[in-house]
Amino acid sequence: MLLAFETSCDETSAAVVQQGRVLSNVVSSQIEAHAEYGGVVPELAAREHLRNLIPVAHKALSEAEATTEQVEAVAATQGPGLPSALMVGLRAAQSLAFALRRPFLGIHHHEAHLYSPWIQGCPPTADFSSFEPNVSLIVSGGHTMLVFVEAELKHRLLGSTVDDAAGECFDKVGKLIGLPYPAGPMIDRLAENGNARAFDFPRPMINDANDDFSFSGLKTSVRYFLRDHPELLEQEQRLRDLCASVQQAIVDVLVAKTIRTARRLRVSCITASGGVTCNRALRRELSAACTREGLKLRLAEKELCTDNAAMIGVLAERKLLRAPVGTSLDADIQPGWKLE
Ligand code: KG4
Ligand code: ZN
Repeated sequence: MLLAFETSCDETSAAVVQQGRVLSNVVSSQIEAHAEYGGVVPELAAREHLRNLIPVAHKALSEAEATTEQVEAVAATQGPGLPSALMVGLRAAQSLAFALRRPFLGIHHHEAHLYSPWIQGCPPTADFSSFEPNVSLIVSGGHTMLVFVEAELKHRLLGSTVDDAAGECFDKVGKLIGLPYPAGPMIDRLAENGNARAFDFPRPMINDANDDFSFSGLKTSVRYFLRDHPELLEQEQRLRDLCASVQQAIVDVLVAKTIRTARRLRVSCITASGGVTCNRALRRELSAACTREGLKLRLAEKELCTDNAAMIGVLAERKLLRAPVGTSLDADIQPGWKLE
């Protein structure tokens, strides 16, 4: 049985995992604490983690009907992420591992995202028996990247955003039209009754022959568009059309580049995770494109799209099975840790 922590950004999470089965996955979101500032405030995130970590860990253990004595290993996100936030989870996990005399594992947050689409069912269980080489899209508020997962625990970063992440674009466009942070889920809902062809926004880098993304130009074009059409903010249906059009531009880029990369690498499977993978249009269109192209698609389940400790625990357990060596109890956080 393994206890895992995730505190890289604004979710405090603890999970208990046993042989790939997620026995509990408790996530305490700090969205409300940060909303009034329009984004994540690092100092505030760290304080919230300090306040929430022990209650969240208690809840994870009690939901799993487990005691600390049964914990055979402890894992935590080591990076990348907000330094002060990472420190809370990492040091707590190392201290617990020290006290229990159990191995500790420091996990790469994005590497954990790569395997979250393989956790499915009820109770959520990691199914690595059906694993196959895939192109993985990680798309969140802080990151947009394409990764070639050649084999289990073997991956290569293909490309990432050169400026804003896709989720950041949703959030910044939301701010321009007066939506609270994070705006992604609300734009998703507003777009449902909007016309995605009403306004033609740019699809940055969609035809570039690389696996990188760029979303800051799209946000800027929405800003100029609203400067020239301020009356639109007062018209409910036009606002829905705007949300649908912006969302369509983002989804078009994500889907086109992911599919093209999979074809180039001749893999037959695509996976996706990260908060933006909750977006219904993205799920729908990626799914339709994969069907068209004869590709298999594994989307992380919605509760595992956003940051969670279950994916940290599943990867840590997998690593321990491969090689029973832990991370040093002195190991420090790695806020800028790059995915190889
Ligand atoms: O993975 P996540 O919880 O945190 C990190 O950024 O690491 O992702 C949060 C991001 C936010 O930018 C949020 O607006 C976006 O995911 N998001 C969505 C949706 N749900 C969350 N964006 C579009 N549509 C959604 N349904
Ligand atoms: Zn994440």
